[in-house]
Amino acid sequence: MSIKIGNLTMKSRVYVPPMAGVTDIVFRGIMREIDPHCLLATEMVSSRALMHKPDSRIMDLSPGEDPIAIQVFGHEPDVMAKAAQMAEAKGANWVDINMGCPVPKITKGKDGCALMREPELAREIVRTVKDAVSIPVTVKFRLGWDDKSRNAVEFGTMLEEAGASAVTVHGRTRAQLYSGKADWGFIRQVKRALTIPVFGNGDVFEPEDAARLLEETGCDGVAVARGTLGNPWLISRISKYLETGSISEAPADTERLICAYKHAIGLAKYKGLRIGINESRRHLTHYTKGISGAAPFRARLTQINSADELETILAELANKVGGTKGEEIFRTAVDQMRLQDTNLENQLVSMAK
Ligand SMILES: Cc1cc2nc3c(=O)[nH]c(=O)nc-3n(C[C@H](O)[C@H](O)[C@H](O)COP(=O)(O)O)c2cc1C
Repeated sequence: MSIKIGNLTMKSRVYVPPMAGVTDIVFRGIMREIDPHCLLATEMVSSRALMHKPDSRIMDLSPGEDPIAIQVFGHEPDVMAKAAQMAEAKGANWVDINMGCPVPKITKGKDGCALMREPELAREIVRTVKDAVSIPVTVKFRLGWDDKSRNAVEFGTMLEEAGASAVTVHGRTRAQLYSGKADWGFIRQVKRALTIPVFGNGDVFEPEDAARLLEETGCDGVAVARGTLGNPWLISRISKYLETGSISEAPADTERLICAYKHAIGLAKYKGLRIGINESRRHLTHYTKGISGAAPFRARLTQINSADELETILAELANKVGGTKGEEIFRTAVDQMRLQDTNLENQLVSMAK
């Protein structure tokens, strides 16, 4: 089933929303190889920072990358409008405005979720951005600032009036950060009040969770963030479950390890060895979670400094989970990646030049 964002008809209603430090070009390349139709977004980018540093790599898209949102944050309508124009020029299919980030560093200005306490300013931002670009404008927000001020229904209604083409609602307040359970019942109230498409968001980790969220909230689409960490297969498994009602198997451990290697090497190629290897550690932790007996390997993976070390440790783990056959599958896949320079790596190398 599809979803419409403004004049765009998406082939999927499953969305991986922005995650700072995660949804970079490498992560997205991996997601798209598995599910070409999934809706993806960049990490959030500061509109103010873009004014000084317009070549931010956060906005780098792969050639022809589609469908893709670039997410901007900030609180100055004109600056946000300029940032949105830059996002459009970069090739974004739509621009998403962050009104949900709970991090004090962001909210202590009037950015992120702080805008839920400044609805008039939020309205002006959406209107100004909308007038400045020809692509659809969407907004991501939470239930409210805290339990005493859950204003997501009024806030969403106001955003729709201001010209937002769709919204994503994370079922927590800013005060909750990530604690407690996402309140899908409250998301339902927002969905009922709006006519534009609503993506429900919060606590989807399995295909069945996505179906339940859609059922319980009546939302048009589902946004899945943390569930994709180390598990890029989740999105296609959700799509398949929503379409057919059947659950496809989770990938074998060896496949997870191959993907972990590809992800880490992609980061090293794109961001340089030091930063790439450093950033890959958290992903490696996620990829190896749930693999029985992986704990000591995981500890070693957090210490790696080179691609060789990475390959050695993952090959040993492949041997532990799949015997010599498992190790052979892993090593053959790694050799192939080296020889063939996969599409992903080709893209990354050409972008890094
Ligand atoms: C590491 C991390 C980074 C995030 N960065 C952003 C961001 O840049 N912009 C944003 O709107 N939300 C961000 N979020 C929030 C997620 O998009 C999502 O709303 C939240 O994780 C709840 O969904 P989930 O339960 O599926 O993880 C981030 C979440 C995580 C875990």
